[in-house]
Amino acid sequence: MQNTQFNFKERRSELSQKIEEDSAIIVYSAPVKTRISDTDYLYRQDSNFYYLSGYEEPESMLLIRPNAQENNFIIFCRDRDALREQWDGFRSGQEGAVEKYGANQAYSISDVDKLMPELLEGVKNIYFSMSSPCGLDHKINNWVDQIRSNTRAGAEAPQNLLSLDTLLHEMRLIKSDKEIEVMKRAGEITAEAHIRAMQAVKPGMYEYQLEAEYLYAFNKNGARSPAYNSIVGGGNNACILHYVENNSELLDGDLVLVDAGCEYQYYASDVTRTFPVNGVFSQEQKEIYSIVQEAHTQSMDLLQLGNKWNLVHEKSIEVIVEGLISLGLLKGSKEEIIESGEYSRFYMHRIGHWLGMDVHDVGSYKKDGDWRELEPGMVMTIEPGIYILDSLDGVDEKWKGIGVRIEDDVLVTNDGYEVLTPGIPRTIEEIESVMQS
Ligand code: GLY
Ligand code: MN
Ligand code: MN
Repeated sequence: MQNTQFNFKERRSELSQKIEEDSAIIVYSAPVKTRISDTDYLYRQDSNFYYLSGYEEPESMLLIRPNAQENNFIIFCRDRDALREQWDGFRSGQEGAVEKYGANQAYSISDVDKLMPELLEGVKNIYFSMSSPCGLDHKINNWVDQIRSNTRAGAEAPQNLLSLDTLLHEMRLIKSDKEIEVMKRAGEITAEAHIRAMQAVKPGMYEYQLEAEYLYAFNKNGARSPAYNSIVGGGNNACILHYVENNSELLDGDLVLVDAGCEYQYYASDVTRTFPVNGVFSQEQKEIYSIVQEAHTQSMDLLQLGNKWNLVHEKSIEVIVEGLISLGLLKGSKEEIIESGEYSRFYMHRIGHWLGMDVHDVGSYKKDGDWRELEPGMVMTIEPGIYILDSLDGVDEKWKGIGVRIEDDVLVTNDGYEVLTPGIPRTIEEIESVMQS
């Protein structure tokens, strides 16, 4: 169903003001992906496409021409087709594209190659995303070639193909109040799922059974998909960063790490909690967990306007290195260990990433070669972790197979930050208490 909360027209206008005079913007829909014969993966529109139009059907294209007096927003889309709609679902058709999605004009996608050269004639620059699906660059080159072949008849071919990415990504990086509202709802649903899982887990359960608790809570609340494949790793599996097999038994005495967040109205949440399968942390698990929690807290404290993104990351390294030295898991001085990168045996990823329509959202992390400063409206994850694989050399057996990550989603505000995923037990006491309730 179309989301009417976002002002797509305003987004198109804002983008139009950022581009050169006499330009056109072209955006292509995400491809349909076959899963097995006659069966596709659940369709999900390309984020840029949805961001600018709210249009959710595949096989469609947007053409925005800010300088065209009439017809400055055109949608190419599938035709109405009673038979296909009976089998595969409703299509808006060209009429719907105009009426419901505000296109000034809509055409059949089957006519795109015939009409585009005409519509692009006289335009100086064409903006499109370098990461566009389905060979859009190739198509654009063909249309421009066709115009060029008519130059002797007076046709004026576009001169520049320009990247849409930086302009659009900067817009997507800074979230509006409405986007934040939706992301908070995504956070609430994800919170419900984590609490549900903490209360359901027990020794002998399989990881996929615990995963089912998340999927249930997501779907029940109108989030039809996880924002990414859920990671549910018991024991040593928690140390595999992108573990998604989720097919092992959860054992008494092990921790389970769950990195799972829903996608709600095209916006992601991304939360990790690590909790004991039997409801009670062992001494060693507590010690590792406390270091990660401290890194989480101290990194969050640095989320202040004007602080550089990397400062937050460096703080997490510092806290984790100090903690691992105190447990004897790292040996030497803090400075040497940070300098040599030796800590990356235990902490091998960054503190977080931008979050939005994509779980690893768009937006650059550096500007002019330096880490960028935090600005209000940026949303990111804070997710320090310690992973002690059971195959690591030179590590006391008692630590092996402990993997801990704590991840929350935060919004940078004018006076610090706001957690978008509150209410999910995070401390050892909170987790043990909710698990026993
Ligand atoms: N779930 C992916 C991540 O945490 O980055
Ligand atoms: Mn995550
Ligand atoms: Mn993440």
